[in-house]
Amino acid sequence: MEFSIKSGSPEKQRSACVVVGVFDHRKLSFAGEVIDHAAQGYLADILRRGDMDGKPGATLLLHNVPGLLCDRVLLVGLGKEREFRDKNYRDAVRAAIKALSDTGVGEAALYLSEIPVKKRDLGWNVEQAVLVAEETLYRFDQMKSKPEESKRTLRRLTLAVSRRGELPTGEAAALRGQAIAAGMKLAKDLGNLPGNVCTPGHLAAQAEEMAKTHGFAVEVLDQAAIEKLGMGSFLSVARGSDEPPRFIVLRHQGGEKGQKPVVLVGKGITFDSGGISLKPGADMDEMKYDMCGAASVLGTFRALAELKLPLNVVGLIPTCENMPNGRANKPGDVVTSMSGQTIEILNTDAEGRLILCDALTYAERFEPACVVDIATLTGACVIALGHVTSGLLANDDALARELLHAGEVANDRCWQLPLFDEYEEQLKSNFADMANIGGRPAGTITAAAFLGKFTKKYDWAHLDIAGTAWKSGKEKGSTGRPVPLLVHFLVKRAEG
Ligand code: BES
Ligand code: MN
Ligand code: ZN
Repeated sequence: MEFSIKSGSPEKQRSACVVVGVFDHRKLSFAGEVIDHAAQGYLADILRRGDMDGKPGATLLLHNVPGLLCDRVLLVGLGKEREFRDKNYRDAVRAAIKALSDTGVGEAALYLSEIPVKKRDLGWNVEQAVLVAEETLYRFDQMKSKPEESKRTLRRLTLAVSRRGELPTGEAAALRGQAIAAGMKLAKDLGNLPGNVCTPGHLAAQAEEMAKTHGFAVEVLDQAAIEKLGMGSFLSVARGSDEPPRFIVLRHQGGEKGQKPVVLVGKGITFDSGGISLKPGADMDEMKYDMCGAASVLGTFRALAELKLPLNVVGLIPTCENMPNGRANKPGDVVTSMSGQTIEILNTDAEGRLILCDALTYAERFEPACVVDIATLTGACVIALGHVTSGLLANDDALARELLHAGEVANDRCWQLPLFDEYEEQLKSNFADMANIGGRPAGTITAAAFLGKFTKKYDWAHLDIAGTAWKSGKEKGSTGRPVPLLVHFLVKRAEG
């Protein structure tokens, strides 16, 4: 989709369709009023007759409205004006995009982005309009023999700002939105691909191809190189599968040479069967999404490249399958991590932390400004926060605050859980330096406490995206989260 920003009055738009909002009680938005005036009360008449009541998500398409240069007017319900917040705005844009693609117009001018949203600014409105539009039109049909019939004619959207002076803000936000949307699309596509296609080798090949087309550096370490590094914990998980592991290193050098990089680490389990501690069969297909942390790192790099962000960023992706073959980890096995610390594996299904810990040790060599890992790590996080909010744990509160803030402005929220030393008690082992599980209580926290034993040398935060990386049920599919959060975090860092 192409986006442009415009500040002209709506009645003078030569467009296939001008989109304006209607609040509850049939109150037109500002652009709606302007159009109604030019049309000598034509819209007010229609509202009075009750054909459109302004309920959220309602739409009404009008043809041949007098006094205008556009072919059509689309009215979109906004709900109560006093309650016009994030969700109502996003719902309205979604309803508009759906109605537009149903009518089959090629282009439209959206006068929703200039409507004030509680506690948000114009930049936010524009960025979210871009994201919602791309999200609404997203389809994944790579694996269908015949792509589903869809008209998909909508090619160009003009987003309105109310004054000329707002054009630069609007344009910057549209570019940011498009970069984030491209990153989310990449993350979604990789997540939605089945485990037999999206293997560790596939992720590595994708990273290499992206590096070429988008101009950043990549290095892919194979099994032998991983062995040489002494990543005994990561390799113990990989051993259970016939599919060979990879360790992917991405580098975006947008900052000055000496600038310490932000390191992003993404969990790349391309299928999590649980291993010998086998998962139950129901919904096990969804464990193809266990590489969504890795996909979000790749998606973020895609966005960074598009934005040419002046910041040094390193991406680390340990990737393998968690399978139960004859050489797989067994409960009770003890492995030695790259850090030298030994781990008693009491549950082979707690494999994410086993591959992440070695990547976190590897991160030390970059002398990072900070490290953020992203992982579909615990079912417990889904119980705690559901599918709305990602879990956040950190050994540095300033870094945690940055991520909380980034999630807030990106509409991709996370929420901090405590990481007090007392939780480490639960990881004690009779036979090794630590166990890989901490029992039922506080499962998300003990997983992070485990990782915390490998992150003593730098500021570190952990995002548990088990509940937010994909949707189940009828709308099953990857969400592309937390690419928006990560991009906003890095954009703010680049601003200094
Ligand atoms: N990938 C899963 C976490 C997960 C489960 C994400 C369900 C989303 C939905 C992870 O590898 C895992 O299996 N974790 C275990 C840990 C437990 C054995 C301590 C879990 O959460 O059950
Ligand atoms: Mn698991
Ligand atoms: Zn897993």
